[in-house]
Amino acid sequence: MIRLLHLSDVHFGAVDDRLLPPLLALARDLRPDVTVISGDLTQRARPGQFVEARAFIDRLPGPVLVVPGNHDMPLGNLALRLLAPFARYRRTIGPQLEPTLTLPGAVIQGVNTANPLVWKSGRLTRHSADRLTRTFAAAPKEAMRIAILHHAPIPAADGTPADMANPAGVLGTLAQAGCDIVLSGHTHMPHAGFAETAAGVLFLQVGTAISTRLKTDTNDFALIEIAPGNVTRHAWLARQGHGFAPEPVTRFLKVASGWQTVAAP
Ligand SMILES: [Fe+2]
Repeated sequence: MIRLLHLSDVHFGAVDDRLLPPLLALARDLRPDVTVISGDLTQRARPGQFVEARAFIDRLPGPVLVVPGNHDMPLGNLALRLLAPFARYRRTIGPQLEPTLTLPGAVIQGVNTANPLVWKSGRLTRHSADRLTRTFAAAPKEAMRIAILHHAPIPAADGTPADMANPAGVLGTLAQAGCDIVLSGHTHMPHAGFAETAAGVLFLQVGTAISTRLKTDTNDFALIEIAPGNVTRHAWLARQGHGFAPEPVTRFLKVASGWQTVAAP
């Protein structure tokens, strides 16, 4: 079984300082095999915000896999946004925008969905789709195939449509690539979702772990246990900055027709 800690949208530059120490303590106590951050490390892609994000990553239990979000591209500096949108990210967070990690029983592929040509919505480029397809094709048959995207091609928890270009096409690509699980953020609302046209893909979103940019009245993150054919999601919520408390566990079973939610024991 793999224990994966899923964080997102930490937004350094707009962090609730009360939540940072309890999150770091829990992250260590939960002893994950891997920590994933699905984008929006910073609030405005400023160099100092990336430095803070880097220091945060260095305190997390590793390995840590990170992908950029739309907030990780400069907003005010148009030349930089268009000519080198990920230069600051690469310099401080790491050169690889789409990292890959192989663990016993799973392969994880990061996907950069941030699009410098638009305000905030995402995209899946041909280049990224090809990389994802290649990684998953090369993985052992029994491995759980996990993609990390900042933007998801399904509606948010409140029904807001997917903030991504051609979501139907993205769903088709994910399904064809044999993806089992997509981990994402962006909406600042936790959600577990499915899509009819990609029944084999389980979409797990977390909200913002520690930022003040709330869409609901909570911050959250998740610890995901991945075993052959099933996934258990432990969500942790913080209300008004007062630490994190565990929520009821959600379990998912992979069957021939796709994923099913099952009653927790
Ligand atoms: Fe965000």
